[in-house]
Formats: sequence, structure tokens, C-alpha cells
Amino acid sequence: MTDTLLLLHGFPVDGSMWDLQVQALSGTIQVLAPSLPGFGTQPGAGNVMTMEGAARRCLEALDTAEAGRVVVCGLSMGGYAAFELWRRAPERFAGLVLSNTRAGADDEAGRERRYALAERLEAEGNGFLVDTPGPLLSEGADEELWQHVRDIIAAQPAEALAAAARGMAERPDSTGDLAGISVPTLVISSTADELIPPAATTPLAEQIPNAQLEMIEGVGHLSNLEAPGEFTLLLERHLTLCGML
Ligand code: MLT
Repeated sequence: MTDTLLLLHGFPVDGSMWDLQVQALSGTIQVLAPSLPGFGTQPGAGNVMTMEGAARRCLEALDTAEAGRVVVCGLSMGGYAAFELWRRAPERFAGLVLSNTRAGADDEAGRERRYALAERLEAEGNGFLVDTPGPLLSEGADEELWQHVRDIIAAQPAEALAAAARGMAERPDSTGDLAGISVPTLVISSTADELIPPAATTPLAEQIPNAQLEMIEGVGHLSNLEAPGEFTLLLERHLTLCGML
């Protein structure tokens, strides 16, 4: 059984968003960055990629890799999946990192927006999302990084994106689980995240017992891509705190 870092990606990208962290850390620990159902080359999960389905796939990936103690790091949608994984298999966790995410469920208006997005994806394909992906990066991000993000989005099947949008709409409220999270937890936010701003993420660090909060200055939602070195350093420090390095 091998100590493992499990990295869970956000929407509308796939596990390749973690490439730099995988490269940086693979020499010291087993790092898994699976794409969630339907993303990358993964088989889909039907019309709705529920967080339960995502968590089940993660557990399969952990078993296949003979993972022992696991530090789970979820960014945004990956955080929603990490909460589900915690509910299903808390005994697998040696630590947790929650980045640019939130615990609450969508309100009715938010759910409607996701269902509308899913329908549009199925009707038109993913091109409009590649062209106008929303504020995934900060205004200061360079064009090369934007192009990299657009390339990742373009590689995702529209049906998988639609299923994930529905799955996020239907995800449960995880707020009630926070007080019971008993492993060392690091919460990461970034000052220029307009999608899940610091005001939505930082309360996690107060609601999870003994959690640490780190704020990355000047970068947007996909903070691991926009500040890869700083993000990797935070992961390294947390892995050390968890006794994994
Ligand atoms: C993500 O990056 O995973 C999404 O922005 C999450 C969301 O839409 O709630």
C-alpha cells in the first residue's frame, strides 16, 4: 500500500489541469490525477455525473493504484467530489486540501443556470464554452495560459460537460459535514477568484476543526494553473504536515 496524493479537477477541465503538480511531486509520493467520469478519456456516467459517481470512480482509482494513506486535494468541482469521498470513505483520508471551492449547494437560480448550460452544450457542442469560458483565470493571466485552458476545455466531450453541470446542480449541501472533518485540512483561496470568491471559500477554514487557510495573491479560479509553484509548495507543506513526505 502506497501513500498517495489524489488531485481532483474542476469544471470544465480534466485531470490534465494538474500536470505541473504531478510532475513536481511524483518523485516524492504517488500522485493520482484522474479525470472524473466522462472527462478526458474516461467513460461517462450517463446524463448526470453525480458526486456519488465521481467518488466511486476515485475509490476505484485508489484501489487500482493500491493506495494506502491518501491526502485528497479538490479544486472547485473537485472539492464537491472530495466532500462526497469524505462521506463515503473517511478512513482512507490522511489529509484534505480544499481549493477555490465551497460547501453549500446551489440555490434554485444556480441550478436553473446549470440545467440551461447542460441543454446548450448538448444542442451546440462545447465550442461556445471554449470561446467564452468565464473568469477561470484572472485578468492578469497571459494568453498562453488562456490558450492552454481553452485547449483542455475543447478536449472534453460536450455530453460529459453537460452531465457534470447537472451533477453539480444536484450535489448535496456539505456544510453539515465540515465540523466532523477530523484530518489535517488546508483551505486555499485566491484573491482574484471571481467564480468562487474568497468570501465563499474562507469560511471552510473556520468550520473545519483546526484547518489552515492560505490565500494566493493576484490569481484567479484555477489557482494551481495560474500560480503553479506556490500551489505546489502549499501541497508539499501540507503533505509534510500529514506525515506523508
Ligand atoms: C469549477 O471550476 O469546478 C466550477 O467553477 C465549479 C462550479 O461551477 O460550481
